[in-house]
Amino acid sequence: MKSYTSLLLSFGALAAAAPQVTLTPLSGPIPPVRSPEVTGPTSHGPYSGTPTVTGALTAPAVAESIAPGPPNPVTYSNDNGLLQAGYEPIPYQPAGGAGTNGSLPYYHPMSDFDYQSFALALHQEWIELDLFHNGLARFTTSEWEAAGLSAEDRFLIEFMADQEVGHATLISNILGAAAPAQCTYNYPFETVREFLDFCQKLTRFGESGVYGFLGHLDSRESATLLLQSITTEARQQFVFRQMTGLFPMPVWFEVGIPQSWAWTLLAPYISSCPANNTRLAWQNFPALSVLNQPDVFKINPDLGPPSNDTGANPSNDTGIAKSNQCYSTNVVGEDCGSAITHNRSIPLSYPGRPVHFSWGNVGEAVGPNNSYITARSPLADAPRFAMFVSQLNATYVPLVNISGNTASCVQPNMSTYAGDPAANGTMFIALTSQDPYVTPFNLSMVNPYVYSGPALYQAG
Ligand SMILES: *[C@@H]1O[C@H](CO)[C@@H](O)[C@H](O)[C@H]1NC(C)=O
Ligand SMILES: *[C@@H]1O[C@H](CO)[C@@H](O)[C@H](O)[C@H]1NC(C)=O
Ligand SMILES: *[C@@H]1O[C@H](CO)[C@@H](O)[C@H](O)[C@H]1NC(C)=O
Ligand SMILES: *[C@@H]1O[C@H](CO)[C@@H](O)[C@H](O)[C@H]1NC(C)=O
Ligand SMILES: *[C@@H]1O[C@H](CO)[C@@H](O)[C@H](O)[C@H]1NC(C)=O
Ligand SMILES: *[C@@H]1O[C@H](CO)[C@@H](O)[C@H](O)[C@H]1NC(C)=O
Ligand SMILES: *[C@@H]1O[C@H](CO)[C@@H](O)[C@H](O)[C@H]1NC(C)=O
Ligand SMILES: *[C@@H]1O[C@H](CO)[C@@H](O)[C@H](O)[C@H]1NC(C)=O
Ligand SMILES: *[C@@H]1O[C@H](CO)[C@@H](O)[C@H](O)[C@H]1NC(C)=O
Ligand SMILES: *[C@@H]1O[C@H](CO)[C@@H](O)[C@H](O)[C@H]1NC(C)=O
Ligand SMILES: *[C@@H]1O[C@H](CO)[C@@H](O)[C@H](O)[C@H]1NC(C)=O
Repeated sequence: MKSYTSLLLSFGALAAAAPQVTLTPLSGPIPPVRSPEVTGPTSHGPYSGTPTVTGALTAPAVAESIAPGPPNPVTYSNDNGLLQAGYEPIPYQPAGGAGTNGSLPYYHPMSDFDYQSFALALHQEWIELDLFHNGLARFTTSEWEAAGLSAEDRFLIEFMADQEVGHATLISNILGAAAPAQCTYNYPFETVREFLDFCQKLTRFGESGVYGFLGHLDSRESATLLLQSITTEARQQFVFRQMTGLFPMPVWFEVGIPQSWAWTLLAPYISSCPANNTRLAWQNFPALSVLNQPDVFKINPDLGPPSNDTGANPSNDTGIAKSNQCYSTNVVGEDCGSAITHNRSIPLSYPGRPVHFSWGNVGEAVGPNNSYITARSPLADAPRFAMFVSQLNATYVPLVNISGNTASCVQPNMSTYAGDPAANGTMFIALTSQDPYVTPFNLSMVNPYVYSGPALYQAG
């Protein structure tokens, strides 16, 4: 296990010039190019200073939006299942593929798009490393046990924090000298259950944030390494859902989201970063709140005071009537204690459910040192649609009752294939000015029309 990790890191670290490494029992691990600060930040909480720089990293923009174009030339088709090229490079290797001809892998960014995507992913790994440790440190053994989590469960969270050390090291090595360093953070949870819910939401946008750009990277080599870390993150999201008593995987496909969506969700939890930390180029959209977020701690989410959750904030675990606390019952269909899986008799959400929103403004300071500024494109001139993004699908519904910074919509009835309800699990909603048709590989084309959000939506 240990030596395999070292081998993987050395691929990232040594890049093109790397000689083939064969570990023997005598060879020690190869030190990474840049070791993460594994001790983590010493403090938590909001930032109250004045930033020395503000705004995203920018260069002159060529246009406000990108027009849909024709497909790339298609040079291959296969209607009979046979080998079409008429040769194989070596026995048992069908012709084609990228990076299969012996060219030396280069495990580093090949464009600003790559660099900025990896810098964002590194910020995500850093916060996870700190968050998992902070949750373990913040609550007492009796608080953990009252929430139904044993010492073995807590060791699993500790192990997940250790995984983040590896992920942060890997991505730091891919980025090289200017990789962003770890920051300090400000978390929105007060109880063990809120911590777990925040973790299942944060890992959802971490995972989906990578799926959104993985296939678009110029560096396939770096994409391969990142995929090998993000599949671990996917397992973390699954585990945190189980710890909050949710059905672990109520979807057939995991959704991808654009980088600016992930950065909008992540930035509010970063309070400050070290001086001269690499700055990001992604957009911070005005924050979106779901005023009646389905509350994972309730048996009937529509009973009692609704949970007003901004961005990826967790549901509020205090002030729920005991008779409606799903962790205070053993009844099948109501019980949401930590478990492999639970059914819910009353779904968290359903097609036809009214969903109410409020949103923030442009020009608000967010993120590290309050040094990023919320913005929207001139094409996002007014809020007109709520865009539900889940699985393979993006579905717009009209906003109604628009008044000031609030509006409502009705949850759509959307499916992927064969009646599988697309709106399920921990998913995303953004408000938009227009409803361009987008599919998983061109979802980011909607960004110029995003008015606010995204926020997480706890469907199911
Ligand atoms: C952010 O705050 C930290 C801690 O006070 C400081 O060292 C750093 O220079 C600040 N960065 C910016 C961009 O203002
Ligand atoms: C996105 O791709 C789909 C095809 O999958 C295409 O029909 C649509 O026009 C594209 N949208 C934009 C905004 O480019
Ligand atoms: C392998 O393919 C790449 C991309 O097509 C090409 O640039 C490179 O020259 C090829 N290398 C060899 C050894 O053929
Ligand atoms: C949850 O709501 C209670 C009041 O009902 C409030 O005191 C507490 O701060 C809230 N928790 C969070 C994390 O917002
Ligand atoms: C930040 O970078 C500037 C310019 O390179 C340098 O003069 C300054 O000392 C750096 N500050 C810190 C705290 O590293
Ligand atoms: C919901 O929460 C946001 C963020 O805290 C706040 O700005 C907004 O006023 C709240 N809305 C309601 C209706 O409580
Ligand atoms: C769980 O839910 C499924 C789907 O609604 C149902 O078929 C199954 O019988 C339920 N199982 C239990 C034990 O409630
Ligand atoms: C919009 O407002 C009307 C009138 O108050 C109300 O009947 C309707 O349910 C609201 N729509 C949504 C989706 O909340
Ligand atoms: C959603 O659509 C499916 C398939 O068309 C249909 O069977 C189901 O009744 C619809 N549900 C609602 C609540 O409209
Ligand atoms: C969801 O996406 C799948 C795959 O692209 C597509 O077949 C299906 O029609 C979409 N459903 C909706 C409601 O858009
Ligand atoms: C979400 O998935 C769960 C698990 O398959 C299922 O029981 C539930 O009915 C689904 N919710 C909706 C709204 O379709």
